[in-house]
Amino acid sequence: LQVSPFIAALPKVELHVHIEGTLTPSLRWKLAQRNKVPLPYATYDELLESYNVLYNHRKELHGDNGAPTFLETYFAGTQVLCQEQDFYELGMAYLEKAAELNIRYAEPFFDLQAYLPRGIPAATVLDGYMRAQREGAERFGVRSNWIMCFVRDRPVEEGIAAYEAARPWARVPGGRGLFHAVGLASNEYDRPPMLFEEAFRMAKQDGLHVTMHCDVDQKDAPTHIHEALFTVLDGRGTDRIDHGLNALDRPELLQGLIERQIPLTLCPHAYHRRQATEVLFPKLRKLWDMEGVKWCVNSDDPTYMHDVWIDGALEKVYRYCGLSKADMVRLSRNAVEISWAEAEVKTELL
Ligand code: ADE
Ligand code: ZN
Repeated sequence: LQVSPFIAALPKVELHVHIEGTLTPSLRWKLAQRNKVPLPYATYDELLESYNVLYNHRKELHGDNGAPTFLETYFAGTQVLCQEQDFYELGMAYLEKAAELNIRYAEPFFDLQAYLPRGIPAATVLDGYMRAQREGAERFGVRSNWIMCFVRDRPVEEGIAAYEAARPWARVPGGRGLFHAVGLASNEYDRPPMLFEEAFRMAKQDGLHVTMHCDVDQKDAPTHIHEALFTVLDGRGTDRIDHGLNALDRPELLQGLIERQIPLTLCPHAYHRRQATEVLFPKLRKLWDMEGVKWCVNSDDPTYMHDVWIDGALEKVYRYCGLSKADMVRLSRNAVEISWAEAEVKTELL
């Protein structure tokens, strides 16, 4: 997929990217050696091959064929991250890449619960990301506010404990300001948003924003969107929905997005792995033409998704939705508006 010069030059904002999903094979190899973490691959080529996870095989849905699922591959990558310097380097690698892609502002997700059970202190992870946040803005001109995800297939109490450990790094009064929101990610199977209502309540009380994944074509996708919109904290639980494309399945969900003004962070390339061009892009076009539904384009886990970054995802929308250059500029502006950037940053970006 050739990215056109127009898309490459477009100023961008990225609101749905998992920092662990930007770990390149080369950094992973380097960190494995530095930290003496054994990799289950004998050679660098085998490691590269492991990144070819084509499908989000869900064992619960499709049975266990012995191959690692997408999320198993993604969490396996996190094993090499151990020291503060590692988290810093991962953050800096993304922000440097972001600058090359003309991303001006980003809200990366991180999964603290991938590290705490291994005995890595919250400070190691969060100090590393915070140093990247500061230096990435200075050196590459990419500002960022980060989002702590609850890992939804792990116990709720563990998520709440992780949040409490992370709170000093949140953008709360007296906090260090790394993250300004919480999210909900990982395996959605039988893990509806309502399970995490108490966690969301805590974050809201701390003045943080809330978003949650309602991934495309999951078993209960429309039900989870319904909960996110209408049930969690009596319908005031979420400020955005990550993915949420299955809102198209039910009129009341589209109505809810419009009435509550809940935007979607979409990741077209991620869906394109599983949906044909002529199936997927008309859905996006329909959302584009719908009054009152706002969405933006993002990458999700670029190094685990064939190395397609936000520019590739935008190129696909540009080509396959038949959008004009003016539309693409509007789409880019949508991302600014959907973001939770500080008011003065937003003004500057618009
Ligand atoms: N966390 C990171 N990447 C994810 C994905 N693609 N789906 C669900 N949770 C994730
Ligand atoms: Zn995601």
